[in-house]
Amino acid sequence: MIGIFDSGSGGLSILAQLRKTLPNQSFIYLGDHARAPYGERSGDEIYSFSGEMIQTLFDRGCSLVLLACNTSATIALRRLQEDWLLDHYPEKRVLGVHIPMVEALTGLKWNRDNPGTNDAAGRNVVVFATPATVASKTYQDEIQKRAPNTLICEQSCPGLVAAIEAGASDEVLADLIKGFVDAALKKSSNLPGAAILGCTHYPLVEDLFSAALPDETEIICQPSIVASSLAGYIARHPEFDIFDSSPSLMCFTTGDPEAITPLARVQGKMPKFEKLN
Ligand code: DGL
Repeated sequence: MIGIFDSGSGGLSILAQLRKTLPNQSFIYLGDHARAPYGERSGDEIYSFSGEMIQTLFDRGCSLVLLACNTSATIALRRLQEDWLLDHYPEKRVLGVHIPMVEALTGLKWNRDNPGTNDAAGRNVVVFATPATVASKTYQDEIQKRAPNTLICEQSCPGLVAAIEAGASDEVLADLIKGFVDAALKKSSNLPGAAILGCTHYPLVEDLFSAALPDETEIICQPSIVASSLAGYIARHPEFDIFDSSPSLMCFTTGDPEAITPLARVQGKMPKFEKLN
């Protein structure tokens, strides 16, 4: 059983792609809707909430958990691994959605201790993310140390996750996104060749980002990159490949299931959430 965690419904953008790429795996999705958004919280809160949510997924039988939340992954993953996971759950794994993005941009396989460098990777990249992810500088630091010729401009998008979770209209979302894109373009010296939507809620509004960005800017799609990376991980670690001929999906929330806004933009059907006990 693979656990997928997000602060809210954004991780459904990753889950939809995972279910296509890994059709014989069972998933448990957990959204911490009661405490979302995370992106405007402190690092300590994000760390402690993420640890609790991972523990919940372990307790429900997951041996592999994907942090389908860039905020949680960029801020808490390394600290959780160093302080807690390795000592208490050496046989379990927690992966973060930012790592496959860094790999895709740098052309280098992730190696924490020996990152390596690729001087040939030299794009001009804009990263849209939550305020906490941008403040962590994780994308910037991890990409630049591997690909020093890459130019990165990070743009924080306060309020966007809350608006998506609330089911704001396309008009409202398009306005917000245009403001963030304009601010990023003003800051970057050259036209960005690539954009990372570094928050799993943003692929749900990818068309609105695409409309606001210059035609030359390619959006690097996190759900498909993460899904193929996880498929590769499972192929290399068959102990996590629990083949299920009738795979299941359970979705839990810390909030009130009735209060979760059904998001029309979720690919396929918005799943039914159960209250986490
Ligand atoms: N989907 C989360 C992310 O990828 C949103 C964080 C939040 O709740 O602000 O960062």
